[in-house]
Amino acid sequence: MESLLIDGGTRLKGDVRISGAKNAVLPIMAATLLTREKCTIKNVPELRDVNTMVRILRSLGAEVEFKRGTVTVKADKINGIGDYDLIRQMRGSICILGPLLGRLGKAKVSVPGGCVIGVRPIDLHLKGMRALGASIRTSQGYVHASATKLKGSEMFLGGRSGPTVLGTANVIMAATLSEGKTIIDSAACEPEVIDLCDFLKSMGAEISGVGSPTIRVNGVKKLKGATHTVIPDRIEAATFAIAAAATNGEVTIKNCRPDHLQAVIDKLWEAGVKIEKNGRNLTVKRGARLKPVDVTTQPYSGFPTDVQAQLMALMVRTPGISIITERIFEARFAHVPELGRLGADIAIEGPSAIVKGGSSLSGAPVMASDLRASAALVIAGLCASGTTQINRIYHLDRGYEKIDQKLEKLGGKVRRVNVQGP
Ligand code: EPZ
Repeated sequence: MESLLIDGGTRLKGDVRISGAKNAVLPIMAATLLTREKCTIKNVPELRDVNTMVRILRSLGAEVEFKRGTVTVKADKINGIGDYDLIRQMRGSICILGPLLGRLGKAKVSVPGGCVIGVRPIDLHLKGMRALGASIRTSQGYVHASATKLKGSEMFLGGRSGPTVLGTANVIMAATLSEGKTIIDSAACEPEVIDLCDFLKSMGAEISGVGSPTIRVNGVKKLKGATHTVIPDRIEAATFAIAAAATNGEVTIKNCRPDHLQAVIDKLWEAGVKIEKNGRNLTVKRGARLKPVDVTTQPYSGFPTDVQAQLMALMVRTPGISIITERIFEARFAHVPELGRLGADIAIEGPSAIVKGGSSLSGAPVMASDLRASAALVIAGLCASGTTQINRIYHLDRGYEKIDQKLEKLGGKVRRVNVQGP
């Protein structure tokens, strides 16, 4: 089992280059199933989840190569049966449902796994597929879907906490090869959905309203192969910006998209962080006098739920009371007890965490639980006195490319070690 050992107390300094977006590349890789022709995807991060998606596509019969940040896929002859153990490893694998239905008219996909941050139902995905005329049944942990021919229709895809990102992606992909027009109301507006639609349009899909809550798709007979470069990962960029602020460092975050991070930049400004946009770079400067903030996570372009844990780690360092309310997932505070082991003083009241910030942190062994909770522990470990050991860092490796090497390059005292035990 691998762990990270972090000796806290050093300020991060220097430049860090942001990798391609995990949450864009997973649906884009699934979209390659929509065509027999070869697709090339560039700026692909070396992540556990990407390697899992490579294995899923291969298990479906596609020819897949992943070398030096580029994935090529030729899904000429594919079957519609997803490998149970592979698919249940991550949430992103549910995105093969729409393409398989659109291409083959049938799919057998296990209910996906992913970060344990709530129930994570797929009812909206299935609602969308039924709206396109698919018959769906679930048994023994599998979704069985079939349709002689998908037919476009109008549908409302909003759930109890707003739009569904991967649900929108899944239905758009199925709709590209459906007969007629599809209108999706309460569609997700995340940059990752926009990036997927850019890829689909380069394959010949007819999609409009992308980035708005109403997306229109005109079905086409066939899609062709295409080449696409994945957008930078806005969540990784936010994570490094917050780590720089938390260590009172001076870091330039290169190759990012500040326009995808307005809510995060705004909140960090409010917290007193000296953060500046400069083209495709973000610079965090030293000397900020941090102030407590209140934040509520929202669908894009509101404050992202995937940055909630990292902001909490910053607020732990900030004297005063901060209130962080999670409105997207019902169980996304697994980082709170682990931050407590490092000396944080946080109370949970329903969907809100009340952070009594300013306590000094001291290093301890802590357990990573999900991807972004792990990132919060890394940030806290960088600020704690002494050594913090973060166990089960496979969670981190699912979504952050070489985070230990990137932090070491910024002066962080971070070592990846093998330890015995769970
Ligand atoms: C995507 O998950 C991301 N994952 C998540 O990032 C991100 O937190 C989430 O979008 C919200 O932005 C990937 O893209 C691989 P949702 P997704 O469907 O699509 C409920 C990370 O850390 N819902 O937008 O699965 C759901 O329970 C990960 O990188 C239903 O009720 O999230 C949640 O409360 C974590 N029924 C809300 O909608 C459904 O059928 C939003 O979920 C689907 C979702």
